[in-house]
Amino acid sequence: MTFSTSPALLTLSDADRSPLSIRARALVFADPTSQRLRAEVERLAASTLPVLIQGETGSGKELLARHIHRSSDRQGLFVAVNCGALSPKHAEAELFGHAAGARAGTAGRAGWFGSANGGSLYLDEIGDLPLSLQAKLLAALENREVMRVGAQRPNPVEVRLLAATSIDLVRAVEAGTFDERLYLYLSEGRLNWPPLRERVGDILPLAEYFLGIYAQRLGLSPPLLSPEAQRQLEGYIWPGNTRELENVIHFALLVSKGGDIQPEHLGPANPMALIERQLERLQASPSLQEPLREILTRSGVMPDR
Ligand SMILES: Nc1ncnc2c1ncn2[C@@H]1O[C@H](COP(=O)(O)OP(=O)(O)OP(=O)(O)O)[C@@H](O)[C@H]1O
Ligand SMILES: [Mg+2]
Repeated sequence: MTFSTSPALLTLSDADRSPLSIRARALVFADPTSQRLRAEVERLAASTLPVLIQGETGSGKELLARHIHRSSDRQGLFVAVNCGALSPKHAEAELFGHAAGARAGTAGRAGWFGSANGGSLYLDEIGDLPLSLQAKLLAALENREVMRVGAQRPNPVEVRLLAATSIDLVRAVEAGTFDERLYLYLSEGRLNWPPLRERVGDILPLAEYFLGIYAQRLGLSPPLLSPEAQRQLEGYIWPGNTRELENVIHFALLVSKGGDIQPEHLGPANPMALIERQLERLQASPSLQEPLREILTRSGVMPDR
C-alpha cells in the first residue's frame, strides 16, 4: 500500500490481484467524516481485533475489509464469503470443510474457514449465517481449531474474522436470530460506515476517480463534470451508494461521447429526470401535481418557476 500525492486517496498497490468485483485501486476518503473514520480504520487494521463493518449496500464494506487485511501483518489469505450465498444444505461443510470420505468418495476439504488460516475471513451479511453455525464459528475462532464435517479430531486453524452487515445486528440479537455471544465477540471492533449521501464530500472525488479509471480503459481523456452535473451528483440520495455512483459515471462517460458530463448524461442520478418521470405518471391525477411541485420546490430539489 502506498500513499498517492493526495492525502484523501489511499492507493492499493496490489489491487490487480483482487477479483474483478472489487475494481477500485484506491480508497477515497475526502469528506471530513470519512477522514475521521479513516483513523479508526487504521487503528483497527493495526490491531488483532475482529471487525464488524455495518453499512448500506454498495458503500464499500468489502473494500474496507480488504484494506484492513492488507494493512495488518497477517500472512495468510483474505477469503471473502457471502453468507447469504452459502447453500443451506451444505453450509457447514462449505464453511468448515469436511473430512475425507465424509461425502461418498470425496477427498477432504479445508472449507473457507480453513482456507483463511493465518489470514482473514471476510463474512459478508453475517446476519444470514444459520444460528447453529454462528455458535460453531465462535467456538472455532476462540479455540483456534475447527471440526470438519465427519472428522474425528479438530484441526488447528487461526483466523481473524472481518464481518459485514447491512442490518442492525442488535435488533437481530433481540429477535433471537443472531447469537449474542458472537455479536459481543465481534463488537469489540465495530465500524459504522455511513452511506454516501452522508459523506457528500466524497462524491465528487469518487466521481473524478471513476471517470479517470473508465476514461483510461476506453482510451479517452477524462471529460469534465459540468457545475450543474456536479450539483446533481452531490444532491442525489444514492440508494446504491458508491457502486451506483460508479455505474452512473461509467454510463455518463459512454453517453457523453467525449464532451463534458452534463445532467442529462447522469441517467438515474439525475433527479430532474426522475421527477419528470414521476410527474408524467401523475398525469392521470392532476390534482396531485401542484402539491408535489410545491414540496419539491420547497425542499430545493426543483427550481422555483
Ligand atoms: N472509498 C472508495 N473508494 C473507491 N472505490 C470505492 C470506495 N468505496 C467503494 N468503492 C467501490 O464501490 C463498489 C462497491 O464497494 P464494495 O463491494 O466494497 O461495497 P459493499 O458495501 O461490500 O457492498 P455490498 O453490501 O453490496 O456487499 C466497488 O466497486 C468498490 O471498488
Ligand atoms: Mg460486499
